[in-house]
Amino acid sequence: MTLRKIIKNNTKLTCAWYVFENWLAGYRLKKGNLKTTSGSRHSGMSLEDSVNYIDKVFADYLDYGKIHNFYGTVAEIGPGDNFGVALCILNSGAQSVHAIDRWKPIKNLNEQKRIYQKLSHRVGFEKLFDGTPNEDNIQGLVYHQGVSAEQFFKQTNVKFDFIISRAVMEHLFDPLEALTSMANALKPGGMMIHRIDLRDHGMFSGHHPLTHLMINEKLWKIMTNKSGRPNRILAPHYKNWLNSNELSGDFFITRLTGITEEITPQKWEQIPYEMREESLKIVKSIKHKISSQYQNMKNSDLSIAGCVLIGKK
Ligand SMILES: C[S@@+](CC[C@H](N)C(=O)[O-])C[C@H]1O[C@@H](n2cnc3c(N)ncnc32)[C@H](O)[C@@H]1O
Repeated sequence: MTLRKIIKNNTKLTCAWYVFENWLAGYRLKKGNLKTTSGSRHSGMSLEDSVNYIDKVFADYLDYGKIHNFYGTVAEIGPGDNFGVALCILNSGAQSVHAIDRWKPIKNLNEQKRIYQKLSHRVGFEKLFDGTPNEDNIQGLVYHQGVSAEQFFKQTNVKFDFIISRAVMEHLFDPLEALTSMANALKPGGMMIHRIDLRDHGMFSGHHPLTHLMINEKLWKIMTNKSGRPNRILAPHYKNWLNSNELSGDFFITRLTGITEEITPQKWEQIPYEMREESLKIVKSIKHKISSQYQNMKNSDLSIAGCVLIGKK
């Protein structure tokens, strides 16, 4: 058995590994090293898959927001290694896209070049590049690299028509405080759309899908607060946040605990009964072992493993 397997099989050893990894991330941050593989989405993807992914993410935003196009000033948090979605947003009618990323996702420049070249052949996209199609020549894109969303929205004077993210909120140290700053940065009539993955991101793969909730808060903090691993802010936290501020909000479920396939965003009652029951059974099997702050949550809330949060001002 390899050392990796020995560590993975034992949750205590796995925790110790993440404490070390988190310390290392803090050390790298102190040295100004912002490189990460989180967000290197297009690395190793075929050109066709990359373009399909960009189109899907863009179409999902329109679908979630029930809008036909973007307009005005848009903030995309954590775009990852490529600005294809920002290009689609600009082409649909936005004047500018502010891309905000705390880290520098590692990218393959040849793959990136091919993606921008392919997109530049689409009707309307060619005018979005000021010269050779690449990320440095996108007109209307303002890249805030090395700036966390928490910091950016606290400080910015820019007001946004849209603030969007996908697979990012779960990596923020304090996403609820950041959401409040985002709400302040929205224009009247503005909208935020966040797709959030509430799973453990493979930290305890091979174990029960809620194993991460067994760990106490203090230990979780030193396992994750520098590395950007999941923050364990769950569905009820987001729903409470939506209920406690001036935005009119909506909350849809995209995944259930222990169920592999994604679901189209929907309300709990709309999800097929058998699927809900299967997930609830998985939640109940670990409920007595998880830490007290999560034990107080409803089983149906612990069953929510992915969601879309919409807030309108
Ligand atoms: C899992 S990737 C998602 C990338 C892309 N949105 C997608 O769906 O393919 C998470 C992204 O969020 C960025 N990120 C993580 N924490 C952040 C923070 N606090 N503020 C801004 N960006 C952050 C990462 O650097 C990365 O680009």
